[in-house]
Amino acid sequence: MKLLSVVGARPNFMKIAPLAHAVAAHNARGTGRRVEHVLVHTGQHYDPTLSERFFRELEIPAPDHHLEVGSGTHAYQVGMTMIGFEPVMLAEAPDWVVVVGDVNATASCALTAKKHQFRVCHVEAGLRSFDETMPEEINRIVTDRLSDLLLTTCGFADANLAKEGVAPERIVRVGNIMIDTLEHQRRLAADRDPRDVLRRSRPAALPPSPLDPLDPDGFGVLTLHRPSNVDDPATLRRNVDLVLELSETVPLIFPVHPRTAARFREFGLAERLARHPRLALVDPLGYVDLLALTSTARVVLTDSGGIQEECCVLGTPCLTLRANTERPATLAENGGTNHLVGTDPATVRAAFHRVLGQARRPSRPPLWDGHTAERILAALLERTPAA
Ligand code: UD1
Repeated sequence: MKLLSVVGARPNFMKIAPLAHAVAAHNARGTGRRVEHVLVHTGQHYDPTLSERFFRELEIPAPDHHLEVGSGTHAYQVGMTMIGFEPVMLAEAPDWVVVVGDVNATASCALTAKKHQFRVCHVEAGLRSFDETMPEEINRIVTDRLSDLLLTTCGFADANLAKEGVAPERIVRVGNIMIDTLEHQRRLAADRDPRDVLRRSRPAALPPSPLDPLDPDGFGVLTLHRPSNVDDPATLRRNVDLVLELSETVPLIFPVHPRTAARFREFGLAERLARHPRLALVDPLGYVDLLALTSTARVVLTDSGGIQEECCVLGTPCLTLRANTERPATLAENGGTNHLVGTDPATVRAAFHRVLGQARRPSRPPLWDGHTAERILAALLERTPAA
């Protein structure tokens, strides 16, 4: 069986690493059919801190093909990815094109594959925020509509797909592949001192931060990069005012995504944040460094998708600074640690103070057990006739 899997942006790497390892382990056992795994990197993320570092750290084999698409508008990224991907896919002629998550690479390659009648497998299918202003929601809908095999993380995803009329035999609940990576890396993260993470990841242009994560106040982690939170100057200013206020209670470590860093400069906010004693800006973090922080933080504030899920398994209270989430399995009302608080200052403030008093309570939805990649491989093998 020949698989061609696609990565493009940071959140894809932790979803492909376990699959690459599962294929290698399967071939090493030598008991089943041999699996060939071809990896394509579309190049949507190209900064070493957003891409190459994850290959090293998560031991992902070097991509067999690199499309070097880079940054641009959505139409540019999707168009260039399709143009670059088509000849590679035709030359490789895989049994399956495997796409993960919801970034532009996911939808572009699913569409290219389907136009040529290649079978498409979507890992992390069925998630819905029901908010079509999110570029990722469009990518999810398009990808799921075109996929032959829809591999889901939870019952909410299964239900969404059923409501959309997807035939049950195309849906397989395999669990959450990102948690495979978390389980693989958590021992390394436990050995890492948050003070070292802060020191090493502080941008060279800034003075060292006086924040000490081991102080009795502890620390929180903040990430913010969604266009809806950072692209409008008034919204970003309000978000910054709010997190600076919260940092008076618990100091915050803030790994800054390049999009957000660019907006800080554009809207004249960079100076105000650079030297703040209780909010420490740091460069984008590697996987283990971020895990070292999120597993010991008192609270995480985020607009990321994956971090909501990681916090759930780690038991770290998570405040999601968005109006909706496509990951309801992580929410407190469903047994998780995640609180959907939006960005209204009064709501965020109240939730922040409430969760600080709560004990850590790890929660693990069914099949988020570190063995999802093996189930994915089994599902693919089962549906692929021997040559
Ligand atoms: C993308 C994903 C988003 C994911 C995020 C994680 C889509 C639609 N969005 O958003 O779901 O949560 O990745 O990081 O696919 N840039 C760099 N270096 C890079 C890449 C980007 O500096 O290596 C800058 C560029 O100025 C670019 C901006 O970041 O314009 C945004 O990058 P882009 O890939 O368009 O989307 P993300 O916001 O990263």
